[in-house]
This record gives sequence, structure tokens and C-alpha cells, in this order.
Amino acid sequence: MELTWLYASLIIAVCCNTFCAATTQTSSKQTNFVVFIMDDVGMGDLGCFGNDTMKTPNIDRLAQEGAKLSHHLALPLCTPSRAALMTGRLPVRYGMGSRHIMRVFTFLSAKAGLPSNETTIAELLKESGYSTGLVGKWHLGSMCESETECSHPNGQGFDYFFGLPLTNLRDCGGKSNVFVAWDPHIYRDIVLTFLVLLWAAYTARKNGYIGPQGFVVCVATAVILCGGFFAFIKSIRMMNCVLMENQRVVEQPLQYDRLTERLDRRAVSFLEQNHDRPFLLVVSFLQAHTALFRSERFTNHSRHGFYGDVVEEMDSSVGQVTATLKRLGLEDNTFVYLTSDNGGHVEEFSEEGEREGGWNGVFKGGKASTWEGGIRVPTIVKYPGVVSPGSEVTEPTQLSDLLPTIAGIAGVPLPDDRVYDGKDLMPLLRGETIGKPHHEFMYHYCGSYLHAARYTPSDSDSIYKVHFSSVLHVPGPHGTTGCFGTYACRCTGYSVIQHDPPLVYDLTHDPSELNPLDPDDPEVSEVISRMQEAVADHQSGLVKQQDQFGVLRLLPRPWKQPCCGTFPLCSCKDSLHSEKPMLPEVVNQPDWVPVAEDIPQS
Ligand SMILES: *[C@@H]1O[C@H](CO)[C@@H](O)[C@H](O)[C@H]1NC(C)=O
Ligand SMILES: *[C@@H]1O[C@H](CO)[C@@H](O)[C@H](O)[C@H]1NC(C)=O
Ligand SMILES: *[C@@H]1O[C@H](CO)[C@@H](O)[C@H](O)[C@H]1NC(C)=O
Repeated sequence: MELTWLYASLIIAVCCNTFCAATTQTSSKQTNFVVFIMDDVGMGDLGCFGNDTMKTPNIDRLAQEGAKLSHHLALPLCTPSRAALMTGRLPVRYGMGSRHIMRVFTFLSAKAGLPSNETTIAELLKESGYSTGLVGKWHLGSMCESETECSHPNGQGFDYFFGLPLTNLRDCGGKSNVFVAWDPHIYRDIVLTFLVLLWAAYTARKNGYIGPQGFVVCVATAVILCGGFFAFIKSIRMMNCVLMENQRVVEQPLQYDRLTERLDRRAVSFLEQNHDRPFLLVVSFLQAHTALFRSERFTNHSRHGFYGDVVEEMDSSVGQVTATLKRLGLEDNTFVYLTSDNGGHVEEFSEEGEREGGWNGVFKGGKASTWEGGIRVPTIVKYPGVVSPGSEVTEPTQLSDLLPTIAGIAGVPLPDDRVYDGKDLMPLLRGETIGKPHHEFMYHYCGSYLHAARYTPSDSDSIYKVHFSSVLHVPGPHGTTGCFGTYACRCTGYSVIQHDPPLVYDLTHDPSELNPLDPDDPEVSEVISRMQEAVADHQSGLVKQQDQFGVLRLLPRPWKQPCCGTFPLCSCKDSLHSEKPMLPEVVNQPDWVPVAEDIPQS
């Protein structure tokens, strides 16, 4: 008996020893991942992508130490784009390509969200023992309906979440709001509607169509409708602008006061707490979406007004995280990826007429459209010892490539019961030529509508973009063009043009999509027919799924509203507001060298 025990404990001791040794050994070797997601930052906004007057030294340094992906493609709007990044799959595969006007989630308490059975980068890594954290914006659904239906980051693989489950909105600034962006005269229109309803009731009463009771009912209805709508508009800030730590509301409504610093603090703490085990940290910036916000230190910091200050402050947050990686000795063992969820929002102007959206450089159009300006996003990968410093990848790649890349590096197998649109970037990043394009075909959706596709032939230096539909641009302020009638481009309706034959551009020689090729040219018609075959093949593989953008899934549900306090009097403030100096200014970062223009003329 005793002997058996002795043997048993011996075996346990040996096993444990081996096991413990194995785990420490792998954990010290396993690569960490840091993913930065910028919001609406365009191809022309960053120093390392050619902006010689925007000061982004920390991001530029990442580019110097890693590779620039100069042909990296997103989807045209936040929610679907982030879904592709998180899952490695196109949103149309799981009901996140909208058939409606709304293509993003608009209310915190809505039922809509990333389906639970999609596997995110966080879920994938968590399974193999990683700690997973997300700081900042999520925008893929916030509610947990049940154990098996939970779109909140905590239900999608993130152990730790601190940030905005929805998105930064004009309303969060308290001054403007999304309805005003759509219709600048919204309040006047509500009052006019009210007066028209009153007048109709009065006329009906005067002509004897309704009695005194009917009159009262009509007036009451007008008050409820118009007053209710007014109250609804005014409560968007309270409903949507909410900071959460995991599933607990910690600030409502969101305060911009020292917000960047407070978010940076959470990201830095996550790294400090997890430095001794493998981790994934996603830092998803609220910048540079409106409402624009900046701290005192960044006020008048840039040469590009409020918008420039916002981008430059965001850059300082990148610096906080990279400096922390360095301080904790994690730099050499961390894969860093930085991207933007879509192009700059060219229709975004303040009420005073100042440009508040991103700059897409030479690329046409912007956020919400499948013109190159809407989907090509500035992207950097840094992976010391693997990706050669200062290199550039000019082949088309996309956001959904991140998941297979991470899986490959971490050695986690991908689920084999679904189609992946992304592909492992490592061969490209290592500079290995694989003899064929990384993606021969790529599909560019506007909601659930395929507006364009991209074809990279292996035997040509041309990269073709084929537009089946495109949005019509109208003139905007200061000589700009865009979808100014609707604030953001739509996927269907009067502002969308169908192209038959499709418009074809050679992006290698015409990146600005200015000169469509002649469809009668045999080479071009060959491109069109190859593309059409590929599209038919791709679409035959799509299975219809529950649409997350149906009205009933999108609308707010007051009884589910996350609230600190008693609904509707929700109010609380992040505890870090009262803490004094939290993070030092980032030191040891390269100084920005002004360009000639910047030096004062004498
Ligand atoms: C740099 O970015 C600012 C702000 O978006 C923009 O106004 C400016 O045109 C950009 N400059 C270049 C050279 O792209
Ligand atoms: C997720 O669930 C839906 C609805 O049951 C199903 O149609 C879909 O195929 C599932 N997706 C995956 C990736 O398993
Ligand atoms: C920023 O510039 C504006 C306009 O020149 C000025 O009114 C304001 O005081 C400045 N603010 C700071 C903090 O420098």
C-alpha cells in the first residue's frame, strides 16, 4: 500500500516537474501580441506614410523597426471591419454585412452583435493559455443575453476589457449629435412638425371632424411624438457614451477629461500585470473619430488644427505602450500590428466648417465607400528578428489576415469547420516569394452588397480593381467631394451607380482610380471575366445568416440599458479622475524634425 503511494507520488512529482518546466519554457518563448486599431485614420494622416507635417514619431518608429503594409485593405465601416479583423472572415459570412441603411451598431442596449460562435483572435489565443485584454473601443455588440449569446468583449475571448463597448460619437462631446450631422436643422424640423400637427388638429376641430376629446388626444399625441423624439436625441449621450470595466459601468456619460491618459494607464497596467505570461493586448483607439477630443498638452500641438492634435495625441499613446514593452523587456518577443478600421471620413466637418475627418492622401473617396480611400488603411507590422526593419509590403493584404497570422505564430490550429478569408502574412513578411499572389482575388463589400473586387494576376505587375457599383460623389466644403448629402456613403439607392460593364482600374499605374480602362480591350475584358467567375465562385459559398442589422436587433432596449445609478438617472465617474500624475511623458522617442515649411520665415 505504502509502496503504491510512494510510486504514485513519485510519478506525480516527475510529471509535474516535466509539465511545469515545459510550461515555463514555452511561456518564455511564446510570442506576445499587441494590436493597435486606429479609428477612421486615413492613408495620408501619418508621418511614415508620407505626411511630412503630421508629428507621429512613435508610429513612425514602429515602421522603421518593422514593415509598412502599403496595400492593406479594410472594410469601409467600423463594425464590419473590426469583425473581419477579429474573426479572419468577411462579415457577410455571419450576418454582419448589413442589407439596411445602418451598417454599424448604434445603441449600447441593442441585441445586435458579433455571433458567439465566431472565433475571435482572443478566443483562439486564450485557448492556448494567453491572457487577453482589450482597451478602448469595441463596437461589435455589448450585451450578454445568455451564456451562449454574448457579444461583449468578455464573451468574445477577452479576460479584461476597459473602454467603450460602442464607439466614440459626436454625441459624446455633448455639443453636437449624429442626427444633426445627418440633418443640421433637426431641432427646427421637430418644432415645425409639432406646429404642423397642432395646426392639423386645430383645423380638424374647427371643421367638426373631431370633437373636443379627439382634439386633446391629437395634441397629446403630437407632444408625445415630438417631445419623445427630442428627449431621445438628447439622451443618446447617456445611453451610448459609457465606459465599462469588464461588464461594470465605470463612467456615464463618458468624460473626455484626461481620457487618453486614463486609457493609456489601463493598457500599461495590463502589460505590467501580464508581463510574465503570453498575452494579447488590443489597444483600440477612440481617436480620430468625432467628437474630437484632446488633452491640454496636445492643444495646438499640430499644424492641422483639432484633427491633427487628436492624431498626434493618439501617437503618444502608441509610445506609452511601446515604451512599456521595452521597459518590461518584452519588445523582442512581441508581434505588433497597427492598422485603421477604415479610411478617413471625408464628409466630417465641424459646424464651423473645419475639417474633422481623416486624410486619404492620393486615394479617392473615404470611409463608408469602397473607393480606395475608404478601404485602404495605413498598417505596420513589427516582429523583431523576423520582419526586417524598414521593409515594405506592397502586395494586397487585408485585415482578416491577422487571425491566421496570429494562429500561425502561436501554433494554434484554426477551426476547420468554416471558410477563412484571411491568410497567414508570415511568408510575405519574411520576404519569401511564394510564386503566386498572397490573395489572387479580394472582395470589397458595402454592407451585404459586393461593390468591388480586386484581382492580382501572378504574371503581371498590374493589380486590377473592378467596380460593379460605386457611390456618386457630390461637391462639399473647400473643394472636396464625397457623399455630402447623407453624411456617410450608402450602399444602395439613388447615390449608387451600377456599372455594366464594370469599371476597371489598374491600381499599380492609377492608384487614384481616375482612368477606367477600356472594357473592350481584350486584356481588360479578360480581367472582367476572370473576376466574374471568381465572384460567382465566392458567392456560391456564402450561406445566409441571421442579419444583425434588422431594426428589431438594432433598436435600444431601455430595460437592458447598462446604467450606473437608477435608470434613467445614470451617472458615475472613472476613479482615475482623482489620481494625480499617472504616466510620465514618453521619453527616448525620436524628436520630430520640422520640414522646411515649418521653420519660421525671417
Ligand atoms: C497631413 O495630414 C493632414 C491632416 O489630415 C492633412 O490636412 C494634410 O493634407 C496631410 N499632408 C499630406 C502631405 O498628406
Ligand atoms: C453559428 O450559428 C449559426 C446559427 O445557428 C449557424 O448558421 C452558423 O453556421 C454557425 N457558425 C459557425 C462558424 O459555426
Ligand atoms: C490654442 O490656439 C487658440 C487659437 O489660436 C487659442 O485661442 C488658445 O488659447 C490656444 N490654446 C492653448 C492651450 O494653447
